[in-house]
Amino acid sequence: MPAPSLSPTVRTFTGGAASRAPIGIFDSGLGGLSVLRAVRAQLPDEAILYVADSLYAPYGERDDDFIADRTLAIGEWLVERGAKALVVACNTATAQSIALVREKLPIPLIGVEPGIKPAALQSKSRVAGVLATQATLRSARFQGLLERYAADCRFLCQPGHGLVQAVERCDVGSAELRALLRGYLEPMLDAGADTLVLGCTHYPFLDAAIRDIVGDRLMLIDTSVAIARQLERVLGQHGVRAATSVADTPLPLFYSTDDGIHQQQLAATLLHIDAAVEQVLIPSRRTATPDSRAA
Ligand code: DGL
Repeated sequence: MPAPSLSPTVRTFTGGAASRAPIGIFDSGLGGLSVLRAVRAQLPDEAILYVADSLYAPYGERDDDFIADRTLAIGEWLVERGAKALVVACNTATAQSIALVREKLPIPLIGVEPGIKPAALQSKSRVAGVLATQATLRSARFQGLLERYAADCRFLCQPGHGLVQAVERCDVGSAELRALLRGYLEPMLDAGADTLVLGCTHYPFLDAAIRDIVGDRLMLIDTSVAIARQLERVLGQHGVRAATSVADTPLPLFYSTDDGIHQQQLAATLLHIDAAVEQVLIPSRRTATPDSRAA
């Protein structure tokens, strides 16, 4: 069923139309599929529109204005397609732009952020590692999280250079990837960490490769289930939860700004969702220039 096309100026839904409207989920690429997995498990009756901005991934090495520009353009695109709420399933986009985008979009937004609070609550050794993108780690929002929740826990913050690119290629276990991960994780183990915050939504897809390196010496903190619960609360507060249905969970509608081949492959192999991906053009101010693909 095609999603209703609504103008961005339509600010509210009413009655049944509201609850039947889809949830928009967006990421710089395929990482947000880890959030989509949790949302489908928590809210099986909700229709979902998923946009991967894979043409412009990784965001983590982009400047802040570029990330905000893309997040806003994709949020507006999803609103035009009738999304009743938007999950910014990207730590980097949330860190750099959620406040600005929230002001401009007429629907509720749910962002994601590295699980510093649960890590500080659960770490026994009081040393925890954080793997996230460079842009997330340098953001004021992330520094604020450390100030608020780190307390007496020492956080070892490691940019995960190369990891997003690997997942975007559907590489979740090659020798090169494992070597990269080992270089990031072994210093954390040597420093006494017992907890690892997966501060990028791409990284839960690397859990098996991470486990092979760290065994059970690190507790992995992935916030996707907490995000799905938060989304459920927000939909409830706005009175726009989908009605319970006996039908199967609807297939998400997948969109990508690149050819979508890897998205289809990752969704099939890791989420067991067989769905076509539609390639879409989502223009934005910063991508109007010919060299905008270069990170
Ligand atoms: N999944 C995004 C995140 O959570 C990856 C950002 C990127 O493209 O570098 O930060």
